[in-house]
Amino acid sequence: MFKFKMNRKSKVEVPQVVPKHIGIIMDGNGRWAKKRMQPRIMGHKSGMEALHKVAKVANDMGVQVLTVYAFSTENWSRPESEVTFIMNLPVDFYDKYVPELHRNNVKIQMIGDTERLPQGTFEALKKAEDLTKLNTGLILNFALNYGGRAEIISAVQQIAQEILDAKYSPGMINEQLISDHLQTHTLPRTLRDPDLIIRTSGELRLSNFLPWQAAYSELYFTDVLWPDFDEKAFRDAILAYNKRQRRFGGV
Ligand code: FPP
Repeated sequence: MFKFKMNRKSKVEVPQVVPKHIGIIMDGNGRWAKKRMQPRIMGHKSGMEALHKVAKVANDMGVQVLTVYAFSTENWSRPESEVTFIMNLPVDFYDKYVPELHRNNVKIQMIGDTERLPQGTFEALKKAEDLTKLNTGLILNFALNYGGRAEIISAVQQIAQEILDAKYSPGMINEQLISDHLQTHTLPRTLRDPDLIIRTSGELRLSNFLPWQAAYSELYFTDVLWPDFDEKAFRDAILAYNKRQRRFGGV
């Protein structure tokens, strides 16, 4: 029941049930670097490489959306040099990995308050989005300068304005309408909510990551530090998911 079987098209072993949307809180880069007596930024650099590998495996397995928490609205309080380094990663990622991901049909998208990112960061992501917009494989969705509560506040403000504009009445507010106003509205309707959320490095919280969309997500926590999170660790998470019974409040 929980065995992996071969996917004839991509020639990788795929589990019985592949989560359609996986969210990842990529945590532990700093501790990874500290263990090696390296500066924290080396952890982020290795974290970017881990992300590239996981995105490849996820695409091969047939995962449809991978939303990765790359920078939260709270992360601005880090030392300026670290923030600058992280903000440059999308530029590196574009140069190093986007051409290959594009050849492999991966589509890149972003959520978060992305207009407030440094110009170069935003432009690298925008170029990646434009280049890959017609691709039909994995959607690699970067959450950058993302905060879940801010996302909900913005959705409420938009809906309130649309009520004032007589587009809706308050009684028409339902789950679908809210989902349509969240930043994840750019994802296909049936794929907006993660089936599985993975957090690395042993922390047991969601830290403002997709609070609305995570209502029914399965949560998987591992002590592995993000730069060490490899194909085996990813498969372990999916095997654990395959052992869960998702009841969505039913019996
Ligand atoms: C949390 O670890 C990690 C981050 C805040 C940055 C995550 C970014 C990446 C993995 C690279 C993403 C790639 C692109 C292209 C944007 P931490 O620094 O909080 O680790 P610690 O808790 O051990 O200090």
